[in-house]
Amino acid sequence: MSASATMPYFIRPSINMDRAAKTAAYQAAVQELDALLTGETDPILKMASINSVLKSHLTYYYWVGFYLVRDGHLSVGPYQGTLGCLHIDFERGVCGKAASERKTQLVSDVHALAQGTAHIACDPNSQSEIVVPVIDQQGNLLGVFDVDSSELASFDDIDQQFLEQILQKHF
Ligand code: SME
Repeated sequence: MSASATMPYFIRPSINMDRAAKTAAYQAAVQELDALLTGETDPILKMASINSVLKSHLTYYYWVGFYLVRDGHLSVGPYQGTLGCLHIDFERGVCGKAASERKTQLVSDVHALAQGTAHIACDPNSQSEIVVPVIDQQGNLLGVFDVDSSELASFDDIDQQFLEQILQKHF
């Protein structure tokens, strides 16, 4: 599946943030999520809220969402952004790698990866990404959390640290 390179009217291009600005934005998002989700148990409700709160604070979040483990592969779950690919094999894409290795993947230029194998381009506007595995308290892999930017090199150790903490806390 390939989507048009034209951004729909409701999507804006990413704007990168410096380290101080992104740290402050994540801190505000963490506070909001803690207040909102304390006591909540429904994973879909939590996923939808995490997408919304983070995308509201981080100006480089172009596509944000979850891929969930379903029948031996990943299937798209709650997300915000342009149309996401529906199914991703564990052997394919940055999402598949994060899921099979259970390790966060940071990619500063997705177009430098082999297309269709190492990277799956759901939207050609995506240029950099981070994918974080989502593991529950029992150690089961629920899926992955995927964020794409339409700018190069949007993600770094700050994103990794905050996102790993947020996902560990709420799942
Ligand atoms: N980033 C992915 C594909 C999913 S989309 O970006 C929404 C990948 O290559 O794993």
